[in-house]
Amino acid sequence: MTENSEKPEWSFDTWAETYDQEIATGNSFDRYADILAAVVEVANIRPGSQVLDIGVGTGNLALLCAELGARVVGLDPYKGMLAKAEIKLAGHSDVRLAWCEDPFLSLPSDDASFDAIVSTFAFHHVLHEEKPAAVQELKRALKPGGVVSIGDLMFENAQAETAGLKEHDWLDETEFFSRIDELSDMFAENGMELICQQFTPVAWVVHATRSKES
Ligand SMILES: C[S@@+](CC[C@H](N)C(=O)[O-])C[C@H]1O[C@@H](n2cnc3c(N)ncnc32)[C@H](O)[C@@H]1O
Repeated sequence: MTENSEKPEWSFDTWAETYDQEIATGNSFDRYADILAAVVEVANIRPGSQVLDIGVGTGNLALLCAELGARVVGLDPYKGMLAKAEIKLAGHSDVRLAWCEDPFLSLPSDDASFDAIVSTFAFHHVLHEEKPAAVQELKRALKPGGVVSIGDLMFENAQAETAGLKEHDWLDETEFFSRIDELSDMFAENGMELICQQFTPVAWVVHATRSKES
């Protein structure tokens, strides 16, 4: 696997138009609904929970959180995606959507703001070398006892990634799929244990709790 260091040119604004149809058929989105449901479940969302959804896209995960009574902030760097989410979430007064240039790395929020930070199919847009900083930023924004819960395309380790990219030629090699062994180390460095559940050969839900003391 080549270590990519440049972000690809993505046209999420255009993709927003067809995104919700593609999740029903695209290879990357196998078990999409199960993955979103699992992310929400492990995040332990309750009525009134303060929840941040990073890479909110067309709003499907934010909608699940809002339906549980959470107060949701959804951030995304692409206005086309946010426009679709605005329509989907229009009836939910406890949801706030906002543009943010680089939400995994620079959150516009105070320390310890959220009971849960959730994200689906977006963390692979963070460069490998920036993932440690992203994990630190996630911890910073979580309340003690809060949970970060991420569903995404991932591999157990670099070796599994190399094999997976060969086997699943529809995967985009220019993206930055987490390797779970490395991600576990990043969370451990922040005093958090990463718990991982595999949903498809290439998709996982991982979560970690910020300790009450840190
Ligand atoms: C495949 S979509 C997933 C959308 C939604 N979370 C879902 O599960 O349906 C990826 C989303 O990540 C956003 N995105 C792209 N680059 C990002 C980045 N560096 N940080 C956060 N989100 C990013 C895109 O605009 C898009 O909305």
